[in-house]
Amino acid sequence: MRSDTGQVVRLEDYRPSDYLIPEVRLAFRLDPDETYVTANLTVERRKGVSKNAPLVLDGDGLDLVTLHIDGKPAASDAFEAGPDLLTVTKVPETGRFELTIETRLAPSRNKALMGLYVSNGVFCTQCEAEGFRRITYFLDRPDVLAVYTVRIEADRKSVPLLLSNGNPVESGELGDDRHYAVWHDPFPKPSYLFALVAGDLGSIEDDFITASGRKVRLAIYVEHSKEGRAAYAMDALKRSMRWDEERFGREYDLDVFNIVAVSDFNMGAMENKGLNVFNDKYVLADEDTATDADFANIEAIIAHEYFHNWTGNRITCRDWFQLCLKEGLTVFRDHEFSADQRSRTVKRIAEVRTLRSHQFPEDQGPLAHPVRPGRYREINNFYTATVYEKGSEVVRMIRTILGEEKFRAGMDLYFERHDGQAVTIEDFVKVFEDASGSDLSQFALWYHQAGTPHVAATVRYDAAAKELQLDIEQSVPPTPGESRKKLMHIPLAFGLVGPDGEDIAYGEVEGVEVENSVLHVRKRKHSVRFRGVPQRPVLSINRGFSAPVTLSLEVRPEDRFFLARHDSDLFNRWQSLNTLFTGALIDASRRLRGGKTAEFPSELLAHPAELADDETLEHAFRAQALAVPTEADIAREIGSNIDPDAILSARLALQEGIAASGREVFERLYASLEDKGPFSPDAASAGRRALRNVLLEYISAVTGDPQIAVRQFHAATNMTDRAAALMVLAHRFAGTDATGEALAAFEKRYRDNPLVLDKWFQIQAMTPGAETVDLVRSLMEHPAFSMANPNRVRSLVGTFGSANQTGFNRADGEGYRFYARTVLELDKDNPQVAARLATAFRSWRSLEPGRREHARKALAEMAAVKGLSRDLRDIVERTLA
Ligand code: TRP
Ligand code: ZN
Repeated sequence: MRSDTGQVVRLEDYRPSDYLIPEVRLAFRLDPDETYVTANLTVERRKGVSKNAPLVLDGDGLDLVTLHIDGKPAASDAFEAGPDLLTVTKVPETGRFELTIETRLAPSRNKALMGLYVSNGVFCTQCEAEGFRRITYFLDRPDVLAVYTVRIEADRKSVPLLLSNGNPVESGELGDDRHYAVWHDPFPKPSYLFALVAGDLGSIEDDFITASGRKVRLAIYVEHSKEGRAAYAMDALKRSMRWDEERFGREYDLDVFNIVAVSDFNMGAMENKGLNVFNDKYVLADEDTATDADFANIEAIIAHEYFHNWTGNRITCRDWFQLCLKEGLTVFRDHEFSADQRSRTVKRIAEVRTLRSHQFPEDQGPLAHPVRPGRYREINNFYTATVYEKGSEVVRMIRTILGEEKFRAGMDLYFERHDGQAVTIEDFVKVFEDASGSDLSQFALWYHQAGTPHVAATVRYDAAAKELQLDIEQSVPPTPGESRKKLMHIPLAFGLVGPDGEDIAYGEVEGVEVENSVLHVRKRKHSVRFRGVPQRPVLSINRGFSAPVTLSLEVRPEDRFFLARHDSDLFNRWQSLNTLFTGALIDASRRLRGGKTAEFPSELLAHPAELADDETLEHAFRAQALAVPTEADIAREIGSNIDPDAILSARLALQEGIAASGREVFERLYASLEDKGPFSPDAASAGRRALRNVLLEYISAVTGDPQIAVRQFHAATNMTDRAAALMVLAHRFAGTDATGEALAAFEKRYRDNPLVLDKWFQIQAMTPGAETVDLVRSLMEHPAFSMANPNRVRSLVGTFGSANQTGFNRADGEGYRFYARTVLELDKDNPQVAARLATAFRSWRSLEPGRREHARKALAEMAAVKGLSRDLRDIVERTLA
């Protein structure tokens, strides 16, 4: 493992490489303990570069065996080699030569899961962002594009399957029970998209005929006997391929498309050209083992990686600062895909919930950074919610500003102009300016300025003048390294809602530009006047969450209830109720801290039952609306001096109040919504299950009886219902016999299925209260738990840190101490995952003083450890700064 050198990479230091590598021939002789890699590189000095310029190649812990220049052993004074660097000091005159590098690797000992490693007996690679340099010396940067030919040789019996990027060209038997295969990828690509997978796997296969009539062979490789659980992923893949043709005019470009599921993987999945590698959690699903959320995630991630073929692979990033060029755009594309496959409003609500719970705290804490950062110490730490989710929001705003047609014209221009190139955010913004004639220079600040903008608005209606006065003010809070902020261009979709729920027409608007029901806020303050407004409207603003901002709008509670019932924008119906819940929860937690009891307005307690029973609304929408804000949501809104225990109590009290008020409705609906007929993972069926499972929580809260959940747990015919019942038991009835028995039954049934046991770990890790730290500690001793597997670690330890407010933030600091020690332990083997887990501390400054001090100490203890990885040191030091 590389430890930290403190070196910072800066965007302004970017310069093109002195050399290019247009062609790469790789040969692998695979063996778990001693693999040999021969890299034959065609190297070319770039025009205009000095003849004396050395060729400096990246490495990371490499063991050089031999080195040849133009087929001859390199003279000892022609190069300098170390584990992390290979410098060819004497480059042939002509500047064009062949460099042949032989390295020796030990994939079985690679615990960082970057480069070439072995997962459950399968050889696989992960090269993004800088993993290729753990395989061979290279110009390991995304603007060096090469055509790859890859030869893989391995034992025939134990490694029957040999895969790499591109199309298969040749395969055959060798003596000694060995065999080989050759792959060729005709599309020039950066090294981070290289992949190799070799092992003994089962598969399902299918064909896809592209819009222009080409046949593509599709295959998904999984461990033997798991083939049946890959069918949904295959279906999602074919739908993604069709959708990208229809919505973006993008066709697939190779003869084969392969997906491999592996069990040890640092992230969700990876878009290697023609050979996507997936965390098996995002491939394997059937009704007995996967929840509806799992199915939805699989659909989204299969689509995401497939969409990268055009947004990321055919057009890639010039440097890693441009990460959002591929990630933000591809998330936007997978969001659109899911919205088209399911319910647009429900999908949008889910997106906004994720944005607020993951990106907002990042943007509002010590790890805040722009969507396109300007510096980094460790690029792995910038695969963040800001780059991905806010990056997607920025693309979405471009569409809002330009409209669907001009947006599509801009995308078409992007593909036409930049195919085969490694480009920047500036190039991306420019295509939209050129295609639409709009000036996006102020808008582009969304890429360059960190922090969540705040919009404050007040409204006044003048009945006599029939005018609506709207005052808007924007501000962007300071973030690390950026104390003074520039004014943003914030597109706010809106409507003036009349008494019948219809938007009312208005006359001229002064003080702000309005186009297609979007207000374009560009100045610090806008004093807006709507003329010709016939009656007093209720303002519905930031419809569909058109801009990722925080908003304060003075609205009378009755107007919020009105919007919750009547806004034609369903997103804002959900938002209005959510805002009412949040306000009431903040109040209640203050009262509880002041030694008083929680109290809630009766209309708020009654509203959910009315909504649950509204047959005009989709089940999934009702489920979303009935879910009260999470403890983390409430904490974020309070913002400072947080006491998680008071928040938990307030939330439980609200749920009980709602349940008591709506009990009859909830019980009737719960009975009527039971799954009938065969299982289907489609959105409508999933929505029905989601609503029923929210109702189960309410009913259990008001009856105080675990038996309803016990019955559902045993009667369940799918994992969604089974896991939901177990969750209610484990969280609301912790420590009871009923819960103990259900947990034991679940464990027994799924003992041999690690992905399902992850749910069992996760549910228990989320148990509210001070004792959970001990529970988590003891579960780490469970035979199914392993520190070497990122899914296990995230399910148990990660969930405890990121989704257990009262456990992690235990008043005596034990949650932090346990967590910090576990992160340090993990850092020795897997820095990337360790650093990711450590981000759980990012909101430490908003805690009440006692907890804040405990958290600071835990962070300081980590910082004091010598030999921390660069990944973890970067996170810890920025969090403490
Ligand atoms: N590019 C991948 C995606 O978003 C994610 C990724 C980046 C990744 N780095 C990784 C996956 C390291 C695994 C390991 O689709
Ligand atoms: Zn991606």
